[in-house]
Amino acid sequence: MKGIILHGGHGTRLRPLTHTGPKQLLPIANKPMSQYCLESLRDGGITDIAIIIGGIGSNKVQEYYGSGENFGVKITYVNQDLPRGIAHAIQLCKEFVGNEKFVVFLGDNILKKSISGYVSRFQQSDASASILLCEVNNPTQFGIADVKDGVIKKIMEKPKNPPTNLAVTGIYLLTPTIFDIIDRLKPSWRNEYEITDALQMLLEEGHKIVYDMVTDYWKDTGTPDDIIHANEVILSGMTPYFHGTKEDGVLISGNVMIDDGVIIKNGTQIIGPVIIGKGCIIGPNTHIGPNTSIGDNSKLSKCNIENSIIMSRCNIDGDVKIRNSIIAFNSEIVQTDNAESKVFLLGEGTKISL
Ligand code: TTP
Repeated sequence: MKGIILHGGHGTRLRPLTHTGPKQLLPIANKPMSQYCLESLRDGGITDIAIIIGGIGSNKVQEYYGSGENFGVKITYVNQDLPRGIAHAIQLCKEFVGNEKFVVFLGDNILKKSISGYVSRFQQSDASASILLCEVNNPTQFGIADVKDGVIKKIMEKPKNPPTNLAVTGIYLLTPTIFDIIDRLKPSWRNEYEITDALQMLLEEGHKIVYDMVTDYWKDTGTPDDIIHANEVILSGMTPYFHGTKEDGVLISGNVMIDDGVIIKNGTQIIGPVIIGKGCIIGPNTHIGPNTSIGDNSKLSKCNIENSIIMSRCNIDGDVKIRNSIIAFNSEIVQTDNAESKVFLLGEGTKISL
């Protein structure tokens, strides 16, 4: 079987973070979110993978994943000129897929459990597609499947009156039959070729779609809150390690992962789950955690950070409390002598709550 990872899209809900690169490269527990998809496919036995790229910073995707060799997979890059929808992106992979069954993974979907069981069931099945469904509290926000007696009756996008709370997750197990369907698909009201429309058309034309329930963690990380939540869940499941050095008077508790070359200075408290990337200098008198990731080579001093993602090469110096925040690569927050006036240099779409 082959795999496809969708790495394009608009990423509007994650602006300004997506002004300089695709959302799927944003880190969760210090690893790009799409790497979780790639590893999920690889660990499910799928190593021949196409990555759909397009839009701002798609060269960064190629720079990071390269040929795939370092990740134990073989990658083919497929360019999508404009984000014309998930079904459109899948259609671009017709040649890559050939006659094989394949798995599509939306590059911003995080699944904790291995997909191997779903993959082997689908390999043995005569169904044209298999989808993974997950119970959600807000079904009007998702593609929803109407299921009766274990049979999918209908698939619809963000219904006003949802018949079930079973969301269609962003992992689709498909056969090449889908290509003939997408060829005949019409764009939706938002001018996109929708995967839910393609699946519904498959059903209407008498093809069988089966499903599996995701009972473990699944998250579509489309918004900043989703990313912060996924970060917490992934960090909580990691095995702690300490590869850095610490001075006296440092308190570390809970699930804490400290990478090579990290220096933790006196008076610092780290309350897990927390990950601190390579080469960071933390302290003195700094509080980090819980639920916080600090990217490589960042410097944090005297600050107090919870429930947040600070990416690589950031500098935060001063008596500042940071909560539920995402701070992108190379950012700087420093305390000045004049507490009355603040100095900002902000990119387009920046959000600040003081
Ligand atoms: P969405 O999150 O539905 O859309 P988006 O990425 O455009 O974001 P926003 O709604 O905030 O503007 O996309 C789901 C996934 O599919 C995501 O990983 C991006 C990817 N995608 C493509 O690769 N090509 C596309 O044409 C579209 C629409 C999405």
